[in-house]
Order: sequence, then structure tokens, then C-alpha cells
Amino acid sequence: MDEPIGEVPVYRDAYHCPDWPEFYDLWVEALFRGDISSEVPLIAGLLHGVIDEVSDREECAAKDGSIPINILDVGSGSGRVLVELVEHWWGEGGEGRYLDEEELHFRIIALEPSKAMMGRAYDRVRKCVEHARLVSQASISTSFVLGCATQLVGKDIEPSTIDLATFAVGSICHLSKPGEVDGFLNQLRQVLKKGTGRAAISHLRVLLTEADESTQEDEQEGISHIARLPSEDRPGEEYVRYPIKGVWDGSVRTDSFLLQVENAEGVVIRSQALEWKMKLTRLREWESAVEKNGLVTVERVTGDPWQWWWILKRAD
Ligand SMILES: C[S@@+](CC[C@H](N)C(=O)[O-])C[C@H]1O[C@@H](n2cnc3c(N)ncnc32)[C@H](O)[C@@H]1O
Repeated sequence: MDEPIGEVPVYRDAYHCPDWPEFYDLWVEALFRGDISSEVPLIAGLLHGVIDEVSDREECAAKDGSIPINILDVGSGSGRVLVELVEHWWGEGGEGRYLDEEELHFRIIALEPSKAMMGRAYDRVRKCVEHARLVSQASISTSFVLGCATQLVGKDIEPSTIDLATFAVGSICHLSKPGEVDGFLNQLRQVLKKGTGRAAISHLRVLLTEADESTQEDEQEGISHIARLPSEDRPGEEYVRYPIKGVWDGSVRTDSFLLQVENAEGVVIRSQALEWKMKLTRLREWESAVEKNGLVTVERVTGDPWQWWWILKRAD
């Protein structure tokens, strides 16, 4: 391994590193391949159900007669899920393309704490929404909110307005500090529309346990090798991610690793030490947190080898 040259910037939260967003997208594609392709049809299926219920109800209409359908992606990262959802819903053969309910107005909200990830989401989501508008004539707007899962209610997101919320690819496990999962669920209940609103929250399968013991294996499949991925944004450059080392402290694991960027000659031009924290979730605790925070599980979807989904709605 090339030794990093000079001072190596350390990002205690990898998502804030400017090189991470593109690498993240390339890595997710390489790591999961088609394995998580069921997530967008699942979210689109919920959207279908929400629209069916909402468009029958006059009280859902705004003053101008339009019916808002508000979709919130929490921890939207680089916009991966929203881009795929928009392409699926309004793409060739997609349901949104042929909806003749002109009064529907879709608002797509990306909420993300990292400016670096949000920058990439901003470009990608706006571009694909522009295309969707052109091909479908649908009314769609976008909002990008720099924020955390534990504070959803604010000037951009009003209480009881969200039809469909997602927190995908196990991102909830980054809520590793005491009280954060409860804080998120409490906010989620507040923002979801009463009755019709649905949330699709996924947990990484490897970080879910039915057992009470506090630590798990440090080794994780798929991340213990060196990943080399050529940049598409800057042809000639290549990302090199060195193996991830995970260290447990109770039920929280800190993963640390090095991400380097090489130029076309193989010279390291950037090098950064990255880390993130992830929390092991005990099923029992998760299910009681859902209930305690005024939510109910409508369905549990467990077919995916990477992530298990909980479809939630408000209990009231
Ligand atoms: C595994 S990525 C998922 C990104 C995207 N949802 C996807 O499926 O590709 C996790 C994302 O959660 C974000 N995140 C971390 N802590 C968060 C928090 N407290 N609230 C909201 N998002 C958070 C990270 O910045 C990162 O973009």
C-alpha cells in the first residue's frame, strides 16, 4: 500500500469527505450489484397505495385544488434512491408516466446532513426530475434540506404532510448515539400524514440481531478487500479504498479505512482517513421503539439479503 504523502485529512464522518460521494455510488453499485434492486419497486408500490387513498379524499386537496404528494428521503446521500425512484415511476412503462390525475403535485424532498453528499444529490435529482417532467407533463418540485433524521419538522417539512418517507439501505444504523433512534421515530410520526402516510425504513441485515449479546464479528463480507474503482466524473483518476477495520464498543461499531485517489500514472494525489459509526439493532428494542413513538408496523419485508424493511404508519 502506498504510504499517504504529507498530512492525511481525517473525516470522522466519511460522508463529509469531498471524494466520498462519487466513490459511494460506484462502490454501492459494485458491492450490491442487482441485489438491492427490489427496493425501488417496494417504495413505488407504497407510492401507488398512497396515491390511491389520497386522491379519493377531498380534504387532502390544497386551496388551489391540487393534491400534494410529498415524498421524503431521509439520509438521501447522493440521491441514489430518489433518482432510481423517479426513473422507475416516470420512466418508460412507469406508473407515473400514465397517471391522468392532473391535480397531483409531487414534491420530492431530500434530507441529508452532509454537504458533499447533498451536492451530488442536488445535481442528479434535479436533472432526472427535469426529464420526468418533460416526458410525463407531471407536476413535480424538489427540495433539498441539510439536516438530520432526528430533526425533521422545520421550515421545509411541516407536521402531518409527508405521504411517503424512506430511510434506505440501513442508514438508520448511523443513528448510533443514545436516544437518536427514538428521536427519529418521534419526528417521523410527527411528519407523516395521519392515516395514509407510510414510511419505509430499512435495517442492514448484518446489523440486526435477535440476541442480547453486545458485540458481533469484526469481519464483514465484501468490505475486507481493497476496492479499486475508476472515477467516471474525472476520467483517468481511480479510487482505492483499503480494507475497513471495525472496532466494537458495546453495540456501536466504528469502521475506519483509507480512501486514496490515484492519477492516470498511479500516483496518489489525495489520501484521506475516513470513519463512521454504526449501531447494532436488537429486534426487540426496535419493535418496542416503533410502538413507543406512536407508530405501527404495517408490514415487514425480509426477502432482501442486505436489508430488511419495516413499513410504518402512524398509530393514531
Ligand atoms: C448508507 S448512506 C445511504 C444514502 C442513500 N440513502 C442511499 O440509499 O444510497 C447513509 C446516508 O445517511 C446519512 N446520515 C448519517 N447520519 C445521518 C443522520 N443523523 N440523519 C440523516 N442522515 C444521516 C449519511 O450522511 C449518508 O448520506
